[in-house]
Amino acid sequence: MTVVALCSVKGSPGVTTLACLLGAVWPVGTPVVVAECDPAGGDVAARFGLQGRTGMASFALAARRAGEPLEVEPHLQYLPGGLEILVGARPMEAARAVDAETGGVDALLRLERDVIVDCGRIAPDASGQRLLLARADAVVIVARSDVSSLGHVETAAARLRQERSGALALALVTGHRHAPRSAGRGLPLDLAVTIPDDRAAAAIVRGEAGSRRRLARSPLVEASERLRRWISASTVATSSAARTARPFAARPVSGQSLPGQSLSGQPLSGQSLPGDPAAGWPEPASWAQPAGSGVPIEPSGTWP
Ligand SMILES: Nc1ncnc2c1ncn2[C@@H]1O[C@H](COP(=O)(O)OP(=O)(O)O)[C@@H](O)[C@H]1O
Ligand SMILES: [Mg+2]
Repeated sequence: MTVVALCSVKGSPGVTTLACLLGAVWPVGTPVVVAECDPAGGDVAARFGLQGRTGMASFALAARRAGEPLEVEPHLQYLPGGLEILVGARPMEAARAVDAETGGVDALLRLERDVIVDCGRIAPDASGQRLLLARADAVVIVARSDVSSLGHVETAAARLRQERSGALALALVTGHRHAPRSAGRGLPLDLAVTIPDDRAAAAIVRGEAGSRRRLARSPLVEASERLRRWISASTVATSSAARTARPFAARPVSGQSLPGQSLSGQPLSGQSLPGDPAAGWPEPASWAQPAGSGVPIEPSGTWP
């Protein structure tokens, strides 16, 4: 399994959006779950009308009670297209309590599937987040390209380097589709990808109506694909000193009936949406229904 942690620094939004899209462009046939571990509280349950108690909160509670191995399935819910998600607790007090249950984080790190963790903004006093950022195979900091944001990146990268040896990179929110040559220069971490300011695509990913075709062809999805490729390459290269990670290089799916229809609508070497390869991100009308799971999802939960 491979664990990828996405986090941000002060003043730089976009982590949850990128985590969901990264999950959506993950290699087909490779089980992946997006885990919302933002100590400031998750947003996905509210955005998609999911049950707030089924997710990281119930998973962390089960980790406290259960022996090994801990099953993740009872705690999963599904985004449109079938992407599996452990929604984060909210409000902040509940999320902080879940973060402090480090047994939950520990169980997350040992799941038999790839995990994309939405860590939210770096908070040095959040013990679960700290553990995740130390032990993930790859950490990606999402940050804007203004001087003050990059200053925060430098501080965060220096701190993270003291606690981890694995891949560490920047996803730079530039407003441009492609990186200017100078982007990220001089910073003490790799520039994995530049993230465009793409409001139309971001609105769909936060649950608003919109065209699936437009999302599929959006610069934001294109950037997510580039980030996935960077993660694939860098986790293969480092082969995780801290944990025994299984690299997840993208591969063609041979001999399967999966159509290989990617989020971008092109047949891309077996890329597709996990859980519902044929559907991609469905038309807005079907977004209310979880795809392929058969797991009932209760309407918008409240917490606690
Ligand atoms: N690349 C982007 N371009 C434009 N708007 C974005 C982008 N990424 C996120 N957003 C928007 O910014 C807001 C915060 O995004 P979100 O991903 O929830 O950030 P975070 O998880 O860091 O708080 C949302 O309204 C989202 O739709
Ligand atoms: Mg968020």
